[in-house]
Amino acid sequence: MQQQRWTAGFPVSGPGQFPGVRMRRLRRTADLRRMVRETTLTPADFIYPLFVTHGQGVRREVPSMPGVFQLSVDQAVREAEEAFALDIPAVILFGIPAHKDPIGSENFAAEGIVQQAIQAIKAAVPELVVITDVCMCEYTDHGHCGIVDEGWVVNDPTLEVYGRVAVSHAQAGADMVAPSGMMDGQVGAIRAALDAAGFGHIPIMAYAAKYASAFYGPFRDAAQSPPRFGDRRGYQMDPANAREALREVALDIAEGADIVMVKPALAYLDIIRAVREAFPLPVAAYQVSGEYAMLKAAAQKGWLDERRVALETLTVIKRAGADLILTYFAKDAARWLSGA
Ligand code: PBG
Repeated sequence: MQQQRWTAGFPVSGPGQFPGVRMRRLRRTADLRRMVRETTLTPADFIYPLFVTHGQGVRREVPSMPGVFQLSVDQAVREAEEAFALDIPAVILFGIPAHKDPIGSENFAAEGIVQQAIQAIKAAVPELVVITDVCMCEYTDHGHCGIVDEGWVVNDPTLEVYGRVAVSHAQAGADMVAPSGMMDGQVGAIRAALDAAGFGHIPIMAYAAKYASAFYGPFRDAAQSPPRFGDRRGYQMDPANAREALREVALDIAEGADIVMVKPALAYLDIIRAVREAFPLPVAAYQVSGEYAMLKAAAQKGWLDERRVALETLTVIKRAGADLILTYFAKDAARWLSGA
């Protein structure tokens, strides 16, 4: 009998080889390909980010993010209705306040912009899951994600503010909160604050492995939140590190996270995969502003086919292990998937 050699469990010579084996047999038609496809996107995978601003009838396009707008509450409601009609189950809200100050007071004001948007969206589309980003950078005059003392973002005093913000979002009707500031202990502090205020049923989606990424550039235009001095490397993760991501995720789970997020997505597929394999929780990945901007810019130049690259990136993010994808393509992708 002929000797079989195997590499990683697969035969490399002998009967299980070409010409007996022909991989192209299952690629011959679209329906054969559909039968053996391992990863399928659905609109239920998507979370649609919305930027909410004061005013009425405002739809201000973000220059570096074509198709993404700063929206007044009435317009955000329209977007939320459209997203839900496309079978997208959730939106995540970012607020652009009227005034910025050192601690970002509008962030936890009962009539703050995000609180108004939550109420209006929940009134119009009650079933839609409304998630809120819990951070300070859009609200603070220095643009950092926490309280600043002598040029340093101080961790523990910031946690108290995050707790107040999360509770005020829950009071306004938010279904889930998503802390993104990368302070140590933020998930535990928010869990405790929510529980103490009677919101034990509100889940936390933790931005657990959030990197100090240049891919957030366009978001900072959209949310008007660039740091006025320094950068975020004193709290967000070093893109060079992977093992550290597993520690971050493990800590967030220990503190009570219900969903853990990796951010950005496409350049961090190895991290998504590692988190997926190490932990049983739902994993979310954020296809961030810069990822969107790159594809949009190339598509506008006619250098890439927008629909195909967008669906390809979303598919591979899911293939890597993400259960949920925060993406500015959510509405378009849902339309494309439905064949429209
Ligand atoms: C707030 C926050 C940011 C993003 C999500 N939440 C900006 C940042 O950390 O600088 C980025 C999202 C994107 O780029 O699309 N901290």
